[in-house]
Amino acid sequence: MLPAPRRAGNGVAHVEPDDGKRLTVPSVGDLMRTQVGIIGAGPAGLLLSHLLHLQGIESVVLETRGREQIESTIRAGVLEQGTTDLLEASGVGERMKAEGALHHGFELAFDGKRRRIDLKALTGRCITVYAQHEVIKDLVAARVAAGGAILFGVSDVSIRNIDTSAPSIQFVHQGQSHTLDCDFVIGCDGSQGVSRSAIPERVRRDFERVYPFGWFGILVEGAPSADELIYARHYRGFALVSTRSPTVQRMYFQCDPTDSVHNWSDDRIWAEMHARVDSADGQCVVDGKIFQKNIVGMRSFVSTAMQHGRLFLAGDAAHIVPPTGAKGLNLAVSDVRILSRGLDAYYQTGDEAQLASYSHLALKRIWRAEHFSYWMTRMMHRLDDASPFEQQLQIAELEHVTTSQTAARSMAENYVGSVVV
Ligand code: FAD
Ligand code: DHB
Repeated sequence: MLPAPRRAGNGVAHVEPDDGKRLTVPSVGDLMRTQVGIIGAGPAGLLLSHLLHLQGIESVVLETRGREQIESTIRAGVLEQGTTDLLEASGVGERMKAEGALHHGFELAFDGKRRRIDLKALTGRCITVYAQHEVIKDLVAARVAAGGAILFGVSDVSIRNIDTSAPSIQFVHQGQSHTLDCDFVIGCDGSQGVSRSAIPERVRRDFERVYPFGWFGILVEGAPSADELIYARHYRGFALVSTRSPTVQRMYFQCDPTDSVHNWSDDRIWAEMHARVDSADGQCVVDGKIFQKNIVGMRSFVSTAMQHGRLFLAGDAAHIVPPTGAKGLNLAVSDVRILSRGLDAYYQTGDEAQLASYSHLALKRIWRAEHFSYWMTRMMHRLDDASPFEQQLQIAELEHVTTSQTAARSMAENYVGSVVV
């Protein structure tokens, strides 16, 4: 049985920004209280805290890293229209609208040619290229402006009593141990966090596929190579040409996940990008000054259910997709959209039905995105275990999605994301 729902302001710790950068939560001794305790200040945790605030629900966000760190970690770039619509509707989309780039399509490069997928014509929708860390900056700024509580640099986070109506989070902040009592705990702490393992193994089922390749990512000072993103399949391996701004470009190429960035000189990187992306008709990748290199591994992963008692998981804490379909951040956003509605219903009327259906509802979209990301990954990457026959099938599939209107529309619908309900 859930306790009587109550709106923010009823005995909930009030929160003041201290220096406008770091926030503190006034506490009685080491004890703090809020309605929703959120672990992790990634896109999932920050957006949830922001949406709850708009609904009059108090939350506290606990984050192990510092503000500067979360605001400068380079990750995603492609936002679905459903994501940008929500950011705009909730008042945090102004800078994204001004600085993000609207893309009406993307290109598939294979067999020495390039073919365009016209997202707008096929689906009526578009994507926006706007860096994840810029979304983070916008969300942190909004929470700070609203006096929201984000505790940076916490450690030793553990979750207690999720099987009861009085869960809590224990953590250390600035050398002191604290307990945050709350009505709900939301684990938004990414794939390496502690929340998922707080769900007992006997009620959890995990599904996983690890890929034997990774992505080598570079940030480049220079001009864009094309007006739209290029996803390239080449026998040497996959490559992706993306962008961040008219003067900063983002590119990736398939690599051994155990490789080191130190093995890759700038010249070697450009030779590889040209070999994989340049087309027979003379369209070439534009070189620039590489100022950041990193390697990420690739995994498909889903943990079910995404709820146990008073603990809910959202975003990468519950599921991972390989980045080929550009879905991870967008899934995190759709999770917290569903959760915020469920929490709103609970605090407005005491209705628990929406919260109870969270996992079921979220997983429908998650499995669709898992399939799309897996499919795209298999079609675009060099698969070392693939026979020459299977390699020809990759080309046949690419021919199909770029010549059949029906196949192209299916791909485009998946890429721009499901229509949000
Ligand atoms: P995270 O962003 O991982 O945030 C979790 C936060 O929790 C972190 O700040 C972490 O420090 C914190 N944390 C961890 N443990 C604890 C703890 N114990 N206590 C407190 N805090 C903790 N997605 C897209 O939609 N589009 C793209 O174009 C795209 N491109 C990508 C490209 C690459 C190369 C990669 C690697 C990913 C890409 N993604 C993309 C995926 C996207 O970046 C992630 O899915 C997204 O960051 C998930 O957000 P999240 O809030 O769930 O988790
Ligand atoms: C970017 C990342 C992706 O995973 C993707 O599919 C497209 C673009 C990017 O970082 O720009």
